[in-house]
Amino acid sequence: MQMRVFSLPLPQNSQKGMLIVNINELVGIEEQGRLLKRGSEMAETGRIKNAFLLIKGRKIADYGSMDSEACRKYLAENHRVFDAQGRVVMPTFCDSHTHLVYANSREMEFVDKIRGLSYEEIAKRGGGILNSAKATAAASEDELYDMAWQRLEEVMRMGTGAIEIKSGYGLTTDSELKLLRVIRRLKENSPLLIKSNFLGAHGIPMEYRGHQEDYVDLVINEMIPLVASEDLADFIDVFCDQGFFTVEDTERILMAGIKYGMRPKIHANEMAISGGVQVGVKYGAISVDHLEQIGDEEIECLKDTETMPTVLPGCAFFLNLPLSPARKMIDSGLPVAMASDFNPGTSPSGNMQLIMSMACIRYRLTPEEALNATTLNTAYAMGVSDEVGSITKGKLANLIVTEPMTQLEFMPYYYGANKVAKMILNGKFV
Ligand code: NIG
Ligand code: FE
Repeated sequence: MQMRVFSLPLPQNSQKGMLIVNINELVGIEEQGRLLKRGSEMAETGRIKNAFLLIKGRKIADYGSMDSEACRKYLAENHRVFDAQGRVVMPTFCDSHTHLVYANSREMEFVDKIRGLSYEEIAKRGGGILNSAKATAAASEDELYDMAWQRLEEVMRMGTGAIEIKSGYGLTTDSELKLLRVIRRLKENSPLLIKSNFLGAHGIPMEYRGHQEDYVDLVINEMIPLVASEDLADFIDVFCDQGFFTVEDTERILMAGIKYGMRPKIHANEMAISGGVQVGVKYGAISVDHLEQIGDEEIECLKDTETMPTVLPGCAFFLNLPLSPARKMIDSGLPVAMASDFNPGTSPSGNMQLIMSMACIRYRLTPEEALNATTLNTAYAMGVSDEVGSITKGKLANLIVTEPMTQLEFMPYYYGANKVAKMILNGKFV
């Protein structure tokens, strides 16, 4: 679809910006500069009908009603004008949990699951994460980079503006470093805001079965120091769950990562109540993710902490897992973030619009709550909510211009279709 765009010549070296006008609805406004929203705050989002937004450089400079004095003033200045008539403008999605650097798809395991095998059974016989690790070891850094770049392009066209990417399909020192170097190149070259996460403790290689503490030693003594020496990771992660890493393994790995300045994020409670929530909170994790299995004790433990409970609706959908009680968590006063978990085994999709729809349909979040869960709260969960995640003056102008729609509610309602018409990242159309 063609958008009506008219631009005026820009004077050289000016303070001129881009003025978006006639926006049907501007949503995701956060005036107070809150870095996350908890409990009943999650229902709050600023909305202006018939709005304008002014971008200067890479940032949001101002916004308001088309009828305002400010808008008249900006229209009289010589800004480039973009007419968004009939469309909604909202912050881009932040996807705070992905594994999008991998070599092979795993559709035959998908068929095994349809025929009745569980995710854990497939993992036990060497499939799952180990299947991906084998293919990743065989792939070159350039091949992995090209594949990951395609996936980044794909998610960007569907509205993602910031993304966290984990290693974890290496499981040897060389392969883990290779994955993290790919993520570093993506960071350098992509217009998306990217954070990297070292997940060496994602699976237990076959040769360490029965003595996994030796693999944990390798992660701690060899991998973490090398990852740190090249400054390759913002975060450290562990798959703390039944059949994977224990609470003791997790504590040892987190302490080692923290020593090198990596903040914890945890995979917890996907298969069973694993103790992963408690260990995450104890070590100041910025988020604990999955939470398909979570009881009152975990909810209590998360209250008044700095840890963002992060639900991954795509994984629960793809594996037919029980749904995390997101509604109950919000009603108990907790913040909730929702991310894609884009990976070849448990959620082969990075479509955050679909996550927003699932948030509403399956988890009973209102569209406003779902918006906060997929923008501001996920931005918090990857440590960037001071830069992105809402329409706030001074934040990066990372914006979605939607296909024609009247209001926010259409976004989760019209599920499955791509409703992103244009993406603005760092103040520019991409
Ligand atoms: O987040 N749970 C652990 N890791 C991924 C799945 C990895 C895989 O199966 O390839 C997840 O769901
Ligand atoms: Fe994951």
